[in-house]
Amino acid sequence: MNTTQTALVAGLLAAVAVWAPATAAEATVQPFPDVSRIAPTPPMGWNSWNHFAEHVTDADIRSAADFLVSTGMRDAGYVYVNIDDTWQGKRDAHGVLHSNERFPDMQALSQYIHAKGLKFGIYSSPGARTCAGYEGSLGHEAEDARMYAAWGVDFLKYDLCSLREDMKKAKAEHPDDPDVAKNIMIDAYRKMGAALSATGRTIVYSLCQYGVDQPWTWGPSVGASMWRTTGDISDSYARMSKIGFGQAGLAAFAGAGHWNDPDMLEIGNGKMSEDEYRTHMSLWALLAAPLLAGNDLSKMGPADRQILTNPDAIAIDQDSLGSQGERLYRDGELEVWRRPLSGGRVAVGVFNRGESPRDVSIKLARVGFPGGASLRDVWKQKDLGRRSRSFKDTVPKHGVTLLIVSSR
Ligand code: GAL
Repeated sequence: MNTTQTALVAGLLAAVAVWAPATAAEATVQPFPDVSRIAPTPPMGWNSWNHFAEHVTDADIRSAADFLVSTGMRDAGYVYVNIDDTWQGKRDAHGVLHSNERFPDMQALSQYIHAKGLKFGIYSSPGARTCAGYEGSLGHEAEDARMYAAWGVDFLKYDLCSLREDMKKAKAEHPDDPDVAKNIMIDAYRKMGAALSATGRTIVYSLCQYGVDQPWTWGPSVGASMWRTTGDISDSYARMSKIGFGQAGLAAFAGAGHWNDPDMLEIGNGKMSEDEYRTHMSLWALLAAPLLAGNDLSKMGPADRQILTNPDAIAIDQDSLGSQGERLYRDGELEVWRRPLSGGRVAVGVFNRGESPRDVSIKLARVGFPGGASLRDVWKQKDLGRRSRSFKDTVPKHGVTLLIVSSR
């Protein structure tokens, strides 16, 4: 983050702290220790939802862990293995939540994952029910957090789901209080943040509430390392590009330790072209987005593997400056995005959202290099040498040219 962005975020967080009305729940919550070191770069891994959805089993998770290693994904940085919704069974008389029959032994599963040099992620909801109707954490936050820590959980996705109904009800009961629903939500997220923090275990706390009430302005104050900015992605160019290009304007709210999350990856799920998946990966890298693959790794072909493990795209995503990219300009269906990188370099994405190939010419002065620059083409994996004024290329329909630009 540059100085202006840091000041902006600090100002916003201060504003949130002043503005947020104190509630009874807040009064009992301890201030958060600094969680910014938990995810210094956007978390990378794999999540079960986009491919397996509610059918996921222990065997699928073990297989994902195996394939993360054998495909080179782990070594490329994809280390979290996250079970999404539908692992939960019933709570017993002591309030302890048990996993269901598809997950016979969570401790053993966690050990299996950790033994492979991977990390273990899990999912719950601040509501009584998850989105798939399974048991949520409402009223059991502290005991659930302790159980996650005992299982060796490294990542929690916390999905609003049925708490939305409680929020709606409160809104109907208190029509004169415009913030009642928002306060219920923030308190609920803060409660689990505090419970995770109290376990003493390092757990990435990932908020999933579809961008309701601008979580980027209050996510850090509840201990979150990342927060969803949108509704659900699907394996379609229309949906992916709507979400991805819709992230313009959010860069000031991301930085080392706290990330905007435009949802998980669909690369490899089969319903987009290779160019479209390259657009997906390029946008997420420029956006400093968490990279959580969501495909069936046991069936991944070489093209999808190359897209997911492109070393330059990953280096852009994980760049140590932690500065999120922004749209620089639009020209009809052409969009040029720019992300500052460490060492004075920048990443530039030239996207063609149109329906036919497009010849483009990008002035280097416009992306910050009036004296010319050296270029590397990320998808061709090729150094293009120096250009003094401009860069020309043909970008395929729904495709991208992704460059790393440096003055040297
Ligand atoms: C949605 C969430 C998805 C997935 C699903 C599980 O609310 O956005 O990513 O977690 O619930 O039921």
